[in-house]
Parts: sequence; structure tokens; C-alpha cells
Amino acid sequence: PAGPAAAQAGKSVAFGGAIQSEYLDSDPDYIGAFLAHCDLVMPMNELKFDLIHPARDEWNFAPADRIVDLALSNGKTSRGTCHVWWGATPSWVERIDTARDAERVLVDHIERVSDRYKGKLTGWDVVNEVLAFDPREDGPLRDTYWLRMLGPRHIPLALRTVARTDPGARLVVNDYDLEFVGDLYDVRRGVMLDLVRQLQDGGVRVDGVGIQGHLYAGRTIDKDAVEAFHRELDRMGIELLVTELDVIDLETFDGPDEMDRIAYGLVDDLLDAVFAWKAPAMVVAWGITDRYTWIPDLMPRSDGTPHRPLPLTRDYEAKDWMALL
Ligand code: XIL
Repeated sequence: PAGPAAAQAGKSVAFGGAIQSEYLDSDPDYIGAFLAHCDLVMPMNELKFDLIHPARDEWNFAPADRIVDLALSNGKTSRGTCHVWWGATPSWVERIDTARDAERVLVDHIERVSDRYKGKLTGWDVVNEVLAFDPREDGPLRDTYWLRMLGPRHIPLALRTVARTDPGARLVVNDYDLEFVGDLYDVRRGVMLDLVRQLQDGGVRVDGVGIQGHLYAGRTIDKDAVEAFHRELDRMGIELLVTELDVIDLETFDGPDEMDRIAYGLVDDLLDAVFAWKAPAMVVAWGITDRYTWIPDLMPRSDGTPHRPLPLTRDYEAKDWMALL
């Protein structure tokens, strides 16, 4: 699909959606919405460490298999998220207290999972959210189990393991808060560029940087900074992806039309910004319908009204911003 922003850049872009296996059977309209609107359909959670590897000797491949097979058999592509993420490290892993064993578990895990989906996924978010929430206070990298046990080298270790196991997979470093106006976001963009530069200097392949694209009403997209960020990545031979697009609105209480208008503006600005230098590799929405979204669990709206983060309404009607994608 190519919308106004894409047309402006003279390019079209693959549009993807992250799907959740738990709704496939209960909601007859769910899969059809992805098949109708998306070029790529990817598991939202089913490839994450804790879900796919719930105990040291226990693997739960079926939900991810189901989604990847569903995508590919319907002529869609798929991609993987994620091997290293603080939010999906199971407690059985966090109880491992030697670096040697932690490293063995990480490498074995990545080998096993990447090998199973070898050739079926366009790429992997190999590491997700490794930047510190605020690098000005906490140093560049987030304090996680993997950082404590293995140090920063867990990042090249993970990238090299995927590269060796599924050489055709695009290796992506994925993170949030990379697109807004403000000092914090300037710093985060800088830290991301430093990280991928250091990896490349160390001979480690990185193919892409993912901007998650969890947008917020009340924040402004820094179009110039995103363009410069994209240009710099491109200079290094690294592509840009938008991997988890949705809109979080905690402050608009003038009704759904106003929420949708604000969401449209944010998405339009983000697409303008990421397309300004060249087309990104893909744009992936973090879901498809407002019916299912991660946002209310963590950030309920104070008036109790539903969030409207995604391109389709709860009734599967396309919002205006779907046309941008
Ligand atoms: C979220 C999923 O949407 C939820 O269903 C799950 O319970 C937790 O993870 N940033 C990320 C994603 O990188 O992996 C998160 O996804 C949302 C925030």
C-alpha cells in the first residue's frame, strides 16, 4: 500500500500488523482484517523468550508456528520479535547466576528459535529496548538481567548468533522514544546511532534500526531529527523500520472524532519524517483493531473511555489514517 506520504516520496512501503494468537479462534473477523490490510503479519508475543521457552527444557512453538504458517500460506511475509528483551526474560533464566550458564542459555535459545523459523521471517528484532529509559541519568544501556550477567557484549553476541543461524534474516535493533521533539529524544537518537556505529566498528552486522512508533498525544514528532537520523543510518548501510505503530492518547476528552484527528496528525507526521530521506523498509502496526491493544492495561484513560490507538475501530472500520499506510 502507498498513501500520500509514500506517494510524496515516490515510493510505496510494506505495511504489517502484529497479531495475537489468543484471538484467532474467538474472533472470526480478526484474521481477515490482517489479511485484507497487511503485506506482513507477525506474532506480537509468541516468539518472545518467556512464551516460547517457558522452562529450561520446555518449548512452546505452536502459537508462533500457527501465525507464521498462516501468514506465509496467505502470501504474506512475517518477521520475528524478539530474542533479547527485559520484558520477556523468564524467571527461570533470571535465576541463573553464572555468566557462563547465562551465555549458554542465550545462545542456545537464539539458535533454536532462529533455526526453527529460518528462511520464514524477513528479519528479527534481535534486541529490543536495550537503551536506557533516560540515558542522561542511567548511562546508555538499560539495566537488565542480560546486561548485569554478560555486560554490553550480550548485544553483539545475540546479533552474531542470529546471523550465523539464519544468515538471510535482517538483524534489527529495536527501541522506543526515538521520534519526538525534546532533549531526551535527541539523546536517545544519539545513543542509538553510537550503539550501531560501535557494533559495526566491531565487525558486527546490523541491518536495521526499528523505531517502535508508540506515538503519544501531546508529543510532537521531530521531523528534521528523524530525517537526519534516517540519513545517518542510511550512510552506514542500515535501514529504518517502523515496528510497533500505535497512538496512545491519555489527554483528549472531546470524543472519538477528536482522538482520531489527533492520531491522524501524529501518524501523518511520523510518516512524513521517516519518508523524508527515503522510504523505510516497512511500517508495522502494533495490532490492527482498537478491540485488542496493550495500552489500557498499562495506561488506562482517566475517564474510562476506550483507547483508539490502531488503524481499525473496534468494529473493524478503517479510520482515515489507514489511508496513509
Ligand atoms: C507488548 C504486547 O503488546 C503485550 O500483548 C504483551 O503482554 C507485552 O508486550 N514495546 C514492545 C512490545 O517492544 O514488545 C510490547 O508488546 C509493547 C511495548
